Amino acid sequence: MKVCIIGVGYVGLVTGVCLAEIGHSVICVDNVEAKIEKLKKAVSPIYESGLENFIKKNLKAQRLQFTTDIKYGVQNSEIIFISVGTPSLSNGQADLSYVEAVAAEVGKYINGEKIIVNKSTVPIGSGDWVSMIVSESIQKNNPDKNVKFSVVSNPEFLREGSAIGDTFFPDRIVIGSSSKSAIDKMLELYSPLIDQSFDWPSIDIPRLLPKGHKVPVVVSDLTSAEMIKYAANSFLATKISYINEIANICEKVGADILKVAEGMGLDSRIGPKFLSAGIGWGGSCFPKDVSALAYIANEYGMSPQILNSIINVNREQRLKIVKKVQDELKIVKGKTISVLGIAFKPNTDDTREAPSISIMNSLINLGARIKAYDPIVKEKPQTLSEKVIISQDVYDSIKDADLLILATEWDEFKNLDFAKIKSIMNNNIIIDGRNLFDREKLLKLGFKYIGIGR
Ligand code: NAD
Ligand code: UGA
Repeated sequence: MKVCIIGVGYVGLVTGVCLAEIGHSVICVDNVEAKIEKLKKAVSPIYESGLENFIKKNLKAQRLQFTTDIKYGVQNSEIIFISVGTPSLSNGQADLSYVEAVAAEVGKYINGEKIIVNKSTVPIGSGDWVSMIVSESIQKNNPDKNVKFSVVSNPEFLREGSAIGDTFFPDRIVIGSSSKSAIDKMLELYSPLIDQSFDWPSIDIPRLLPKGHKVPVVVSDLTSAEMIKYAANSFLATKISYINEIANICEKVGADILKVAEGMGLDSRIGPKFLSAGIGWGGSCFPKDVSALAYIANEYGMSPQILNSIINVNREQRLKIVKKVQDELKIVKGKTISVLGIAFKPNTDDTREAPSISIMNSLINLGARIKAYDPIVKEKPQTLSEKVIISQDVYDSIKDADLLILATEWDEFKNLDFAKIKSIMNNNIIIDGRNLFDREKLLKLGFKYIGIGR
């Protein structure tokens, strides 16, 4: 089938590459020229394991094109995905200006019969709203008044850092629309994924579902599909805030959160995933999506108590690290603190809403000198204080530090030479914000080890 993807970021690029790999003809459109130029040369603008191999392979097979020409993309495809960003406004509401701009452009150029798919995470009711914007744009700008289109909600559940595996081997596919024929087309589009009938190339990522496995599909109305996305993300964030609150109680009563989470997670009704206590959830999705759902509830006159609580617990969880630093150092002014990990989670270069950044900014405000290191993030994110020094070598970032904070649990940090670290630090305090390190080993080496919830 012929597909156009508008917005070639983490979601659009991975979706486009996946659809090309399972046999479709995909045109990826973005309005950032530099990004498209890179992609034409098979260079990925984002760090995502395995992605570049698929870009290369599908460009070569001529199933994948990259362009800034939205008219070309819209007019040469039957299914058009909108996958632009939907960041938070300062009041928590989702900023739909990028979706609005794309919907208006689609209306301007649309020809024949099309399916428009909302892949971006959008507030409840956005499917109808996109339909309105496209219709208005057709009326205003499109000479062809006989075009037909349906809108589908097809939320995305991939995680950064494991986006390829999540996309090719999904837990479920959700398709929401009031149009039966649009739903049938979407089922046809995804049938190689639903039936797991595609061949898996020999790359580093293993095949995660056996050939022939049936991926569950949830077909629903538009509104329910939109709600599924927000409800799922908010539930996952709730699970993390819950375990962080339990971790805080563990610290007071002397229990170990690692044992507590293990004991809880073995209950099949609870499950072991998303029970890692730490410095709180971040990233481009949980913070904005939980706030957007709370905003929607407010619009309907509700006060969403659980959502408001998990937002607060998460904010406090970041502040708790700053508090731990103050407890240990007493005077923070003039002290050198090394922060390991800048990305909001391992295996991604994404720093949007990274807890490490708010922690570093708070410590800079308290007068600390910060040296930060990340295996992939090598340039200073815009939201990070100018005063933070980005080290290109992990041991350089630790040298002369009075205290070390582990903010992101990259594998690289598991096997650091702690004897060397002990010899180059000015002091011996380690705050392990992700419970990554071997506590007993560090204690033996003479470090003061402070974890989360233990
Ligand atoms: P992103 O910021 O990485 O990518 C968005 C892309 O859209 C950018 O490349 C930008 O240049 C492009 N764009 C913006 N306006 C455009 C226009 N008018 N025409 C063409 N291109 C335009 O965003 P993302 O992380 O991929 O997220 C996209 C959506 O998917 C969001 O709604 C997000 O909530 C949702 N989502 C993201 C993830 C994730 O892990 N990142 C997972 C699931 C859902
Ligand atoms: C999340 C969801 O997991 C995806 O299903 C969803 O598609 C995506 O948001 C989205 O809508 O964009 P992602 O943000 O990439 O994916 O990363 P997660 O692995 O979910 O982690 C989110 C945050 O929670 C990170 O800061 C991570 O460190 C934190 N986390 C996660 C914990 O603190 N503890 C855990 O046990 C798990």
